[in-house]
Amino acid sequence: MTEAILLVGGQGTRLRPLTISTPKPMLPVAGLPVTVHQILRARDAGVSRVVLGTSYRAEVFADRLGDGRALGVEIAYAVEDEPLGTGGAIRHAAEKLTCGADDPVMVLNGDVLTGVDYRSLVGGHVESGAALTLHLTRVADPTAYGLVPTGGDGRVLAFREKPQTPEEIVTDQINAGCYVFTRSVIDEIPTGRPVSVERETFPDLLERGLLVRGVVDDAYWLDLGTPWDFVRGSADLVRGIAPWDGHEAADALVLEGAQVSDRAVVGEGTTVGPGVQVRGDALVEGSVLLEGCVIEAGARVVDSVIGQRARIGAGATVVGSVVGDDAVIGAGNELRHGARVWPGVELPATAVRFSSDA
Ligand code: GTP
Repeated sequence: MTEAILLVGGQGTRLRPLTISTPKPMLPVAGLPVTVHQILRARDAGVSRVVLGTSYRAEVFADRLGDGRALGVEIAYAVEDEPLGTGGAIRHAAEKLTCGADDPVMVLNGDVLTGVDYRSLVGGHVESGAALTLHLTRVADPTAYGLVPTGGDGRVLAFREKPQTPEEIVTDQINAGCYVFTRSVIDEIPTGRPVSVERETFPDLLERGLLVRGVVDDAYWLDLGTPWDFVRGSADLVRGIAPWDGHEAADALVLEGAQVSDRAVVGEGTTVGPGVQVRGDALVEGSVLLEGCVIEAGARVVDSVIGQRARIGAGATVVGSVVGDDAVIGAGNELRHGARVWPGVELPATAVRFSSDA
């Protein structure tokens, strides 16, 4: 039996306002919380017990996931009174593990979609006798990530968090947020204070001369930290680009109780959430429409997230934007790349554009 710790206690500030009421890992991508996608993949790779390290809005996880039985795993909760950072959270969650000191423990960041082979990561870790194994992925622009150069034998040489200068960009391999620890290594992380695993624990293991392995794997990988990556990840799942066992690739996913008019065009991996209404000749592409929102006739919604019960008025345009729960975008209004509308805000109709589009 393998146990896993999922880190799901972050505030998800980059995804505001979506994360004001729902923690990032519980936001639905292709209709299911990110955490559920992760748990299902971990279960299929032999993980039977998951400890969720929660802090921000901890109650949302237990309400929705319960004891895990419905997902075919056992779920335990380790709730932090104050956020302990990634390392502190792993140490705190370890109190709920049942495995022995020499056993492998998988640790996953709660906001990553990946097709990496968990089973082979754990198997390779055990065989090598390493203290820590990290999944590394290659990205075109590594500046927003933690760089992890390795030697020819896969041994990690250094950790460089978010490089600032070109000289610091020593590799395109980045920390993909999926680790296998030997349990005893977790037990050595200090308790009772915030610890960053990336800035403190990992460099410390290297300094102590312990074996830290990096496994470069080019399977699908996406960090859902920003709204733009969030909509992309959801669309990739729907379209069969991101891994989702048993799902048949489709152009759109229309969930129960949603109503899509015959004249509407809905595609490019869009998810139409429960109870959503897409009316008239509305066009929706590459977007996530959350439960109960309404898209009126003639509206155009592209690469955007529309919050629960929000309303996009007739002829309005919403491109690359986030509309919070219960917000109203007036008829004919336009939101373009990067716009974020807070929950409940009402933007007026702009009648001129509406009348020319209607
Ligand atoms: P941003 O605020 O947008 O950066 O998002 P975030 O708060 O999720 O931070 P980040 O993406 O860097 O976190 C990586 C993973 O660690 C996410 O899955 C977080 O939920 C988790 N995480 C970050 N800090 C903590 C913490 O203090 N406690 C716990 N339990 N998890 C954390």
